[in-house]
Amino acid sequence: MKNKKYQIRCISTGEVIGDFADWFRMNQTCPDGSKNVTVEYFEPIKELKTLINKKDCKYPQSLWRYFKFLPLYNEKNIISLGEGAIPVNNWKFLEKLAKDAFGINCKVFVYRNDENQGTGTFKDAAATMAASIMKEHEIKEYVIASTGNIATAYSRYLALAGVSLSVFIPGNAQLTHQSEMGTYGQRVFKVKGDYAKAKQLAAEYAKKYGILISLGNIDPIRVEAKRTMVFEWLRLMDEFPTVYIQALSGGTGPIAIEKGINEIKDLGVVDKLPRFILAQPHRCNPMAQAWEKAKENNFPEGWLHDYPILENPQTTIPTLSTGNPTTYPIIANIVKRSGGEIISFNEDNAVDIARLSTYETTVKVGPAATVALGGFFEALTDGHIKDGDVVLINIGEGAKRSPEFMEAVNYSTKIVSSIDECEEFDRTQYHDQLLKAVLDKYPKKVESK
Ligand SMILES: Cc1ncc(COP(=O)(O)O)c(C=O)c1O
Repeated sequence: MKNKKYQIRCISTGEVIGDFADWFRMNQTCPDGSKNVTVEYFEPIKELKTLINKKDCKYPQSLWRYFKFLPLYNEKNIISLGEGAIPVNNWKFLEKLAKDAFGINCKVFVYRNDENQGTGTFKDAAATMAASIMKEHEIKEYVIASTGNIATAYSRYLALAGVSLSVFIPGNAQLTHQSEMGTYGQRVFKVKGDYAKAKQLAAEYAKKYGILISLGNIDPIRVEAKRTMVFEWLRLMDEFPTVYIQALSGGTGPIAIEKGINEIKDLGVVDKLPRFILAQPHRCNPMAQAWEKAKENNFPEGWLHDYPILENPQTTIPTLSTGNPTTYPIIANIVKRSGGEIISFNEDNAVDIARLSTYETTVKVGPAATVALGGFFEALTDGHIKDGDVVLINIGEGAKRSPEFMEAVNYSTKIVSSIDECEEFDRTQYHDQLLKAVLDKYPKKVESK
């Protein structure tokens, strides 16, 4: 007999759907045909206060620390590799840079998803939730369309749950993603076409064989997992961020963060959303384009539905290649409510930014994470960061699956054939040149108030 722990509710009609067993039985579709739902918990929210207060938690952790507020009945069904228990680091070099080059006094933290133990990206959070829920409901087959990271995470975690996963990736997906998924013994369908085409084939495949499919950025499985970020920040940080920066593809992050904050509003620990500054690579930036246009026109009626669709976007950062931004109406609305911005990041600057940040911190960031870091520089240049801000940058992935990017980031190898060519070395010689390379690209443009 199940406990009454949570319920799923249709967002458009308010109707209660039931639990995940009911939701799956209904083929993840509300009676009115919509697919946008929210999960509610019966545990009093004050219980969460004790969980977020324990700053010195010593036992091994994962996001399952918040089990009482996650949609799983039985702890025995948890499939975890220690994800979601990652550090928030204070990156002083970015604080210094903001002050010296832009005159802005702010605090800068990074959320280290590269430290996730499953596959080293912030998709591990969603994957542990998916695998555990599927185990609980004895789901044996699943379908997902992905630009790379989410399906790599699902490939590993669903393999641990004994689920056969069929993945549809676009033609431009990184080879390393496809190899990793295949290595876990999951089926990869590499589609001749872009991400929109991969999504379309995945939907047709799920329909043809009657298999459950991931609902993408609004999927309650992903949202429930990712909203635990909010609880972790409260537990780990002395001050809640006033600005949150993330690389943007479809936007599960902001959806989940807003839900997490709304849930805890009665606890009196956070009273408003951080300003979401979401960065897209400039060769695949449909949401940034739409936002820019809406802003220029003072957000006219219908602005949320006015966005371009980019076919076969030629970005060098394939994990962020969502050319058809179907979630724009949801994401842009959240960004507006938060007082934030959707911005474009010049992806040609990625290598210089990765060089500087790795020199300063030794943290090797992957290309999509570099877009978030780059978002900080773009935001400083455009006056979106203010004195007193507490900025949190989501380092969404490490570099281990991006050998070509790392090769481009490397700047210190010298080919030699004799000892005479091997002069003594001092690594500090690099500092000024790496900093200059970044600051030349991000001159101070406007006076910030
Ligand atoms: C490392 C990384 N950062 C950011 C994103 C964007 O995620 P979202 O779906 O929240 O836009 C992705 C998406 O694949 C990603 O892999």
